[in-house]
Amino acid sequence: MLNSIPATLIPGDGIGPEIIDATLAALDALQAPFVWDRQIAGLGGVEACGDPLPAATLDSIRRTRLALKGPLETPSGGGYRSSNVRLREEFKLYANLRPARTLIPGGRFDKIDLVVVRENLEGLYIGHEHYVQIDDDPHAVAMATGINTRAGSRRLLEYAFEHAVNTGRKKVTIVHKANIMKALTGIFLETGLELYERKYKGKFILDTVIIDACAMKLVLNPWQFDVLVTTNLFGDILSDLVAGLVGGLGMTPGANIGADAAIFEAVHGSAPDIAGKGIANPIALMLAAAMMLDHCKLPDLATRLRQGISDTLNLDNIRTGDLGGKSGTAEFTQALVSRIKNG
Ligand code: NAI
Repeated sequence: MLNSIPATLIPGDGIGPEIIDATLAALDALQAPFVWDRQIAGLGGVEACGDPLPAATLDSIRRTRLALKGPLETPSGGGYRSSNVRLREEFKLYANLRPARTLIPGGRFDKIDLVVVRENLEGLYIGHEHYVQIDDDPHAVAMATGINTRAGSRRLLEYAFEHAVNTGRKKVTIVHKANIMKALTGIFLETGLELYERKYKGKFILDTVIIDACAMKLVLNPWQFDVLVTTNLFGDILSDLVAGLVGGLGMTPGANIGADAAIFEAVHGSAPDIAGKGIANPIALMLAAAMMLDHCKLPDLATRLRQGISDTLNLDNIRTGDLGGKSGTAEFTQALVSRIKNG
């Protein structure tokens, strides 16, 4: 009998509750020892108590230091600030780890095994933005300030380099735009090169690439990359790009790791266009739960979950619509649960 592990559960918005239920069914089949404290955030928080990040949710994560989270809706343009960004700031979740692996062989990009490590607290995400009014146009000019610090860059780069060493990765690529944003992303590049020379030389190959060239190279030949480490906005974009290489957003999990807590989620958002239809692919969130099991030092359960997903996709041929299949969320989940129980 494994020791129980208290954890916060945030079902989230849109397809969140559907894919959370599917993931809980898989974790139950594994007899994973999480004891869930269910909380709300995002649009659900606004609707229930007028707050996209209620104090009870923050208190829960403060206590458990561990959460599994469905996607949270953020209005574009105006409206409230992203609860995801606020959660990262509140718990200093400075490292966003987003692995992308081919699970279905024979696609356009076979045998992909990449990790994007994204700085999660700084850069252009800090929300220092404003408009300047000219004459009668209140939105005549828009301004944003990005901030990257040496300490923040070093902490994230060190996390990425340690991750590469601990998982036997051969190459790390620093992605930047220091030719144009010479200070903002130059500090990240400079800190990475210095850290590598001082502490990591010989442990893996270090490469650097400009973000625009990186996007092109990822599409032409993604196999030349291994670990990609980059600043906040570039990491956000690149992780969706690499998700596209392995079958789309339904396939890529993410871990937000920090000094005070760890929060696991899918890379994708709340997918309002398919919410409530029972057709969402739950795999990304299930893979996030596998990362959570690894984080809690339960690698055997994580391996069984990943193997069950792979067998359901490839041996049972049960796939949701985004992967070209005909199954819904429930059918995929039932097949996976049988695989886990009988596998
Ligand atoms: P999205 O990731 O929700 O959807 C993009 C496209 O991918 C849609 O066509 C959607 O149907 C599809 N898709 C996403 N996940 C899927 C899944 N599991 N199975 C099948 N298809 C899937 O991105 P979008 O539409 O730009 O954002 C919607 C909302 O989600 C916004 O409010 C945004 O702020 C929020 N968001 C939240 C995130 C989080 O909580 N970590 C991350 C990204 C966006």
